[in-house]
Amino acid sequence: MRNFGELKVFACNSSSHLLPGICDRLMITPGDATIGRFAGGEVKIKINESVRDDDIFVVCSMQPPAENIVEAMLLTRAIKGSSASRVTLVILHLGYNRQDKKNEPRVPISASWILDLILSSGANRALFFDAHSEATLGKLDGQMPYDHLYGSYVIVDHLKKVLGEPFVIASPDAGGAKRAGAYSRRLRGNNEIVMFGKSRTPDGELDGTVTIIGDVAERTVVIVDDMIDTGGTLIQCAHAAKNAGAQKIIACATHGLFSDNAIVRLRESKLSEIIVTDSISLPYSICSTDELTVTVISIERMIARAINNLHKSESLSVLFD
Ligand code: R5P
Repeated sequence: MRNFGELKVFACNSSSHLLPGICDRLMITPGDATIGRFAGGEVKIKINESVRDDDIFVVCSMQPPAENIVEAMLLTRAIKGSSASRVTLVILHLGYNRQDKKNEPRVPISASWILDLILSSGANRALFFDAHSEATLGKLDGQMPYDHLYGSYVIVDHLKKVLGEPFVIASPDAGGAKRAGAYSRRLRGNNEIVMFGKSRTPDGELDGTVTIIGDVAERTVVIVDDMIDTGGTLIQCAHAAKNAGAQKIIACATHGLFSDNAIVRLRESKLSEIIVTDSISLPYSICSTDELTVTVISIERMIARAINNLHKSESLSVLFD
């Protein structure tokens, strides 16, 4: 086993809610850094302890994206420039990973650009948590070692406790079929899933019609996705499932962005429960009410275990799914 020095974990502001819990589990003191702003708004960083010859993990969540990407890049750069022996970027929510192909004229492939930034950060390796476009992570291949963990690892354990038969796992779109299959394998031992399909006008706009491939009648439908942004996808799918006779509809998503007052619309939807992780810090307004149960599952234990294994050069395969 190579020795990369003492283990230290720092967090950007976006992940400061997880730092104490992660460090408690690792039985270390949280890394001491001040991440503030200049009066004009620029990110201002100071590492308040030596990191010379240490094995450093920088935990960040790129939501909201712009500010937090800059914090992650500058914190990593500052640590690397302070002679750490190795820096691992732990990215709990990878921003700018959705525009991942040139599928129409004059659009950027943002998912490629964000990986360029990570490559230029000075980090030696990266750990991602449920990135939207897994294939684009391949851009790091041959340049930076990385690992990719999934939300299903923690969410499935919760589902096992609350789900009763009959139920079916569903993907909101074709792109999420692999994720839904992974949930179904762990929950039922097979790949059976239901898939929703959004229909588009000849101009490529969503026309609000949702088709369902598979049987949802009289079953609990568990829709799994990587993120809840505006909630529009889940609301439309839940509506279609209810019309097709579903008994109860639950949504699971790794990252809860809850943009544009999504929680208000989700409470008025056909969903009865949503389950998210705390990869993104959630405001108090994201809570259970009579209409909608909101369950937030902590990833602290999983991330602490991943950091511990990486520090000791041990396999992460026990955390994969
Ligand atoms: C789409 O490809 C993603 O996996 C999510 O389904 C989508 O980004 C969720 O966004 P919203 O909540 O705004 O529908």
